[in-house]
Amino acid sequence: MAESRSAVVAVGPDRRPIATTTADAPNVKARSVGAREKTAARLLGSTANKFYDAEVDIDWDAPLQEGKGWMPEHRISLYGTELWDTLTPEQRIELGKHEIVSILSFGIYAETFLSANLLRVFGRGTLSDHSLYAIAEIGEESRHSIMFGKLIEKAGLRPYLLPRTSLFWVKLGQFLPLGPATYGVTLLIEEVLDRGQREAMNDPNMQPHLRQLMKIHVLEESRHITYAREEMVRGMQATNRVNRALHRVILAAAANVTYPLLIDPRVYRSVGIRPWRGIRTAVRSETYSANMQFVSEPMVRFFHEAGMLDGVVTRWLWRMTRALPADIT
Ligand SMILES: [Fe+2]
Ligand SMILES: [Fe+2]
Repeated sequence: MAESRSAVVAVGPDRRPIATTTADAPNVKARSVGAREKTAARLLGSTANKFYDAEVDIDWDAPLQEGKGWMPEHRISLYGTELWDTLTPEQRIELGKHEIVSILSFGIYAETFLSANLLRVFGRGTLSDHSLYAIAEIGEESRHSIMFGKLIEKAGLRPYLLPRTSLFWVKLGQFLPLGPATYGVTLLIEEVLDRGQREAMNDPNMQPHLRQLMKIHVLEESRHITYAREEMVRGMQATNRVNRALHRVILAAAANVTYPLLIDPRVYRSVGIRPWRGIRTAVRSETYSANMQFVSEPMVRFFHEAGMLDGVVTRWLWRMTRALPADIT
């Protein structure tokens, strides 16, 4: 691990402190996307210099901390509802734990899906820096999935496995031709997790193992987001009007499928609430819209700038997600 660190944040059970600054946040602009090979060379250099491995960079033997949470309260799905008022402080922490485990379980599926796409990029056989970076990123996603699995184990829970029908749709996505829609779906997964993690990783009320996981993930995902953002824009620029419309609609439809997969309704059983009642209450709440808009905002603004939200059907589908900020309707 190179020593070039812009800021060191004190953390809990870490073996090497991790630099996480907002300067690491990807700031790719749709109008100023760089040359593909130049970006890839830069990302390859960064991958070699700034990386972590949760096997050694998180002290898994350290105990969990009593009373610390797993999600900031205001991001827990039932926050602010009448059901929330019935929960004890311990039950609120327990629900947050199950929700983060649900999100990380989905994260493992999602990273496998993204890695399969990246393998297709490498499989084109050009051996350019762009294709080499694709497998460098697979290496990182593999470490992330192991890290997510270890965190779930540390939380003392089983992963939330996707129901067969949901898994079918995820698998079907791997047959889509690589293009703006697939890179858009990549961003949908990576940016939503990134936004939530940036908020929680510096919260001293969160479990230290989780904070360390989030710092590692945020730092490395920044490169992935740059790669996918630029590739999505290049793909849109390189194709015709009909294809652009098609990719926009596919991405918007995928958004409607992806967001609901994050929280498995079975999480509510952990606090004695029937799954259907829990999810119905959560989806109808103001917290739902607030959370959707919060986790999606940087990505949605980028999509807007890149023209990915244009078109009547596309915009209608995006409105259904309730993730659009007030000034983009
Ligand atoms: Fe990842
Ligand atoms: Fe990633």
